[in-house]
Amino acid sequence: MSIPQTLITGANAGIGYGICRRLLLMDLNADLIITCRNKQRAMDTLGRLQKEFGKSINVKFVCLDLGDMRSVEVAVREIRSLFPHLHTLIFNAGAGDFNGLSWGAAITALLSNPIHAITHSNYKIQKIGTRTMDGLGYVFQVNVFAHYYIQQRLIDIHKRVVWESSLEAYPSSFQINDIQGLQTPYPYGSSKRLMDMLHVSSKKDEYLCHPGVCATNIFRDHLSLPLVWVMVFLMYLVRWMGSPWHPVTAEKGASSIIFCALGKGDSSYKWGSGTTRMGREKIRKTVVEDCRMEESLEVRQKMDALYREWRDKLMNI
Ligand SMILES: NC(=O)c1ccc[n+]([C@@H]2O[C@H](COP(=O)([O-])OP(=O)(O)OC[C@H]3O[C@@H](n4cnc5c(N)ncnc54)[C@H](OP(=O)(O)O)[C@@H]3O)[C@@H](O)[C@H]2O)c1
Repeated sequence: MSIPQTLITGANAGIGYGICRRLLLMDLNADLIITCRNKQRAMDTLGRLQKEFGKSINVKFVCLDLGDMRSVEVAVREIRSLFPHLHTLIFNAGAGDFNGLSWGAAITALLSNPIHAITHSNYKIQKIGTRTMDGLGYVFQVNVFAHYYIQQRLIDIHKRVVWESSLEAYPSSFQINDIQGLQTPYPYGSSKRLMDMLHVSSKKDEYLCHPGVCATNIFRDHLSLPLVWVMVFLMYLVRWMGSPWHPVTAEKGASSIIFCALGKGDSSYKWGSGTTRMGREKIRKTVVEDCRMEESLEVRQKMDALYREWRDKLMNI
């Protein structure tokens, strides 16, 4: 199988790096464009991939900081000048704005239903109202808007898009009058729910997936090292107890993203990476719940208006 030109955002760590590895394992000639926040991280990522797969791999990089719209526009121009055609855009990069755990809630959740507690960690504390230098909601911009902007700016040169959502895309974390998630205590869930809602009115070759629960930096960053090990142990434990959504490793978490990138499933579903109790990969399909077409079109309209505003602002940089 040959992997055509595929752009992966946030490729230097976690699931993004896992996606790159898996694509190269499938096809040593895979045509990959990776994006990282800065040149140092990109060179380091390229070096690691070359060390494993050889110097002749076909991987190029573009610097992209999704939290800075100027950087996003510059990256778009570079991509357009370097690649007249792209096959697939994998919107993997993402961030939370986590600030520790609510211990009482964590222990109660764990004691009442361990599988649920290690799947839906509603006891993570998130910062409220953080904005980027651009004045937009930080998590909203990094996870959704900057990717949406890239998608629209590259609309004429790409074929397929893969959006990486989450199990935490709870309808309750999102409010239509706060699409940037500036008022909610759950900006991460709000951004992922927005992604899911947009999917309801998306085109045929636009996929939505999630990596299940994996032990990557996004969950490690706000925990102390001993707690990280406890959490990883609990992830394996609940998987063994029957949780469908604990791939745990980034490579296994990448399975549904690869599946969608290859256009394998029906794009109207939300595909998730899971495993069996023994850790064998199992991609499962789910649906975006409680979202009507009119609601999806309404959020799309808001995103389009914001896109046009930023397109005009960045036109002359
Ligand atoms: N891990 C899970 O259990 C889980 C569950 C559900 C969904 N997800 C989603 O999976 C995706 C990948 O996350 P991960 O688990 O692999 O976490 P990760 O290890 O923290 O990787 C996140 C990637 O996104 C990049 N990124 C963060 N902020 C960025 C910015 N402002 N501009 C450009 N790139 C930025 C990071 O770059 P730096 O290294 O420079 O920060 C990194 O490459 C995210 O969309 C996340 O929401 C993960």
